[in-house]
Amino acid sequence: MSALKVGVLASGTGSLLQAILDARDASYEVCVVVSDRPGAGALDRAVRADVPAIVCDFASFGSREEFTGAVVRALTNHGAELVASAGFMRLLSPGYFEAYGGRTLNSHPALLPSFPGARGVRDALAHGVKVSGATIHFMTLDTDSGPIIVQEAVPVRDGDTEETLHERIKEVERRLYPEAIRLWAQGRLKVEGQRVHVLPSS
Ligand code: GRF
Repeated sequence: MSALKVGVLASGTGSLLQAILDARDASYEVCVVVSDRPGAGALDRAVRADVPAIVCDFASFGSREEFTGAVVRALTNHGAELVASAGFMRLLSPGYFEAYGGRTLNSHPALLPSFPGARGVRDALAHGVKVSGATIHFMTLDTDSGPIIVQEAVPVRDGDTEETLHERIKEVERRLYPEAIRLWAQGRLKVEGQRVHVLPSS
């Protein structure tokens, strides 16, 4: 079986990307990293790992549709079969899902469906939850609503700030995300409506 080609979308420092890179094995490879931010640390990590790093600078496109088209082209040009959104902070237009719907994963730093959106960690903390966590799910047009693949709880500690809680959640995301990608690569994710069944390894 040849390694699954995974394209990664990232906007930030790219520590999740790094975890995905570090966990590569015979089941998957990273074929391209695409960022909407020219200075994103994720791009440097890609270069260091000898993976093509493509910038689709959101500000340089006339519309979200054009931006989305460039992202899709960067992915298809490099043969991406699965896409992992890893801290990618831009919404993509519906055209994206014609190309990669059903085969894009996302990681969210809260226990969905609670606290969706860009401020999940802050919102959970502000609500006073005692437990938050990490969710790896299929990305759909409806933000942070797609079928959930795996989740893990992270207890909130007295005195936690958004930064301290987010860092503990990210430790979990870095462990769960490569596992989810590997499950997909091994053909072990079966989606039935909103539910994802993890099939036993053969
Ligand atoms: C992760 O917590 C991800 O869930 C969120 O952004 C963070 C990415 O961090 N959307 P990094 O840039 O990979 O370090």
